[in-house]
Amino acid sequence: MGVWGHIFAAMYDRITRSTETAGLGGHREALIGTASGDVLEIGGGTGANLPFYGEGVRTLTITEPEKPMIRRLERRIGELEHVRAEDPKLARLQDRMQPVNVRVAHGCHCNRSTPENIRAAGFDVAQVDRDTLKHAPPFIRPLVVGVAGSPC
Ligand SMILES: C[S@@+](CC[C@H](N)C(=O)[O-])C[C@H]1O[C@@H](n2cnc3c(N)ncnc32)[C@H](O)[C@@H]1O
Repeated sequence: MGVWGHIFAAMYDRITRSTETAGLGGHREALIGTASGDVLEIGGGTGANLPFYGEGVRTLTITEPEKPMIRRLERRIGELEHVRAEDPKLARLQDRMQPVNVRVAHGCHCNRSTPENIRAAGFDVAQVDRDTLKHAPPFIRPLVVGVAGSPC
């Protein structure tokens, strides 16, 4: 784990604060509050979704590969995802920025078509709303807020 991983985790909440108040926090509240049953959150980061889980959640499992993020997440205890743009011009910018972003944002991919990837993995994507992360750099602005489940 390099020094940048520690710095990135320590600054993450500060970096995203204005994005949270400009709309991302509202999306979290609306989406995470609908979760129920056994929930798997992939890439929990610093635990920004935690305050929004409701009583319908029976178990919550959070995956997070970065140790500094896990430490912050543990302190907080007690997706939403930014995606590939639909606009081809912005998507090309995302492709160009990807090699830089993946290093600076410590493994974060700015050009992935996440809903399509979730579908390709065999999940039913029941709902996908698109928005933008206001106050974020243009190449990480496209946002999806959605719900997917495994076909029974
Ligand atoms: C953009 S951050 C979002 C964090 C959090 N979900 C939030 O809404 O604030 C993406 C997170 O996914 C984690 N991550 C990256 N690659 C991953 C992988 N292959 N599996 C699970 N998590 C991963 C990163 O370490 C990072 O904490």
